[in-house]
Amino acid sequence: MDKEEINKEIKPIIWDDDNNQLILIDQRALPNELKYFPCNTYEDVAFAIRDMVVRGAPAIGISAAYGMALAEIKNEDIERAYNTLKNTRPTAINLFWTLNRCMNAYNNNKPIIDEAKLIHMEDIEICKKIGKIGEKIIEDGDTILTHCNAGALATSSYGTALSVIRFAYYNGKNIRVIADETRPRLQGAKLTAFELNYEGIPVKIITDNTAGFLMKKGLVDKVIVGADRILKDYTVFNKIGTYSLAILAKYHNIPFYVAAPLSTFDFKNSLNDIEIEERDEKEVLFIDGSRIAPEGVGVYNYAFDSTPPELITGIITEKEIITINKKP
Ligand code: MRU
Repeated sequence: MDKEEINKEIKPIIWDDDNNQLILIDQRALPNELKYFPCNTYEDVAFAIRDMVVRGAPAIGISAAYGMALAEIKNEDIERAYNTLKNTRPTAINLFWTLNRCMNAYNNNKPIIDEAKLIHMEDIEICKKIGKIGEKIIEDGDTILTHCNAGALATSSYGTALSVIRFAYYNGKNIRVIADETRPRLQGAKLTAFELNYEGIPVKIITDNTAGFLMKKGLVDKVIVGADRILKDYTVFNKIGTYSLAILAKYHNIPFYVAAPLSTFDFKNSLNDIEIEERDEKEVLFIDGSRIAPEGVGVYNYAFDSTPPELITGIITEKEIITINKKP
């Protein structure tokens, strides 16, 4: 099997035509167990998104589209399905973008399942293009730091930030990856490290607070992250901690890239319009079921932050690399 074939084995989202079922990799169980979560109704899909069985902006969007298709197939109220799915997670724009595409298909008497499959297939091609275009920024010998998981598990296949890394590797570049563990849900340790390790791409994980020290030691050549939403002034919303990383990169003159499909752009809203998801305090207060702080202590558990354009070197899309700052 060649290097690219191995990646194709990671299929986070599968539509089963015979049983009208959406099958998701249950990301809550990784890396210890590769198990699947079947969705038979749009409510199952809404639960899967809310509970992070599936997560990552494009993957959430694709799953929600199949949720709409399930509602149509089961003759359920489409408006209700739309509203339920829309209210699962607030920050990533992809969810709203795919739900609106499905609603348009429905209003134009087109089967929603066809639109969902199209969205899914398009995403595979888009991720591939992002990888092929973006890999040019990577030099032989580079060590790339990434945050959260912007890989195959967060999309249909390949990923966004990890697609860039994958294609550099497929093209024979000798690269290494450092993955921030990404507290509190540990997407870096549990998902990014799992994906890269599965493919044989060298990866080390670090606690989130190690990044600055490694940069100072000259051990990081580039930072590449994904995005949940990008405003027209190029402000990037991504996993909490991205902003701190961008400041660190700027201070150490390290290029900071964002990789995302064009559908991530939000030309309508501005900074203060965007809801930053706040998740359950238990995600911070407990590790593996054990409480790590005293009873009565409060928590900030924002899931995302925003990074201003002055900290971003460029945005890698499926069409081009948009240069934002010539110098890091
Ligand atoms: O809370 P999550 O795991 O859904 O957050 C995911 C991220 O922030 C990703 O970096 C982002 O969605 C880009 S995925 C290609």
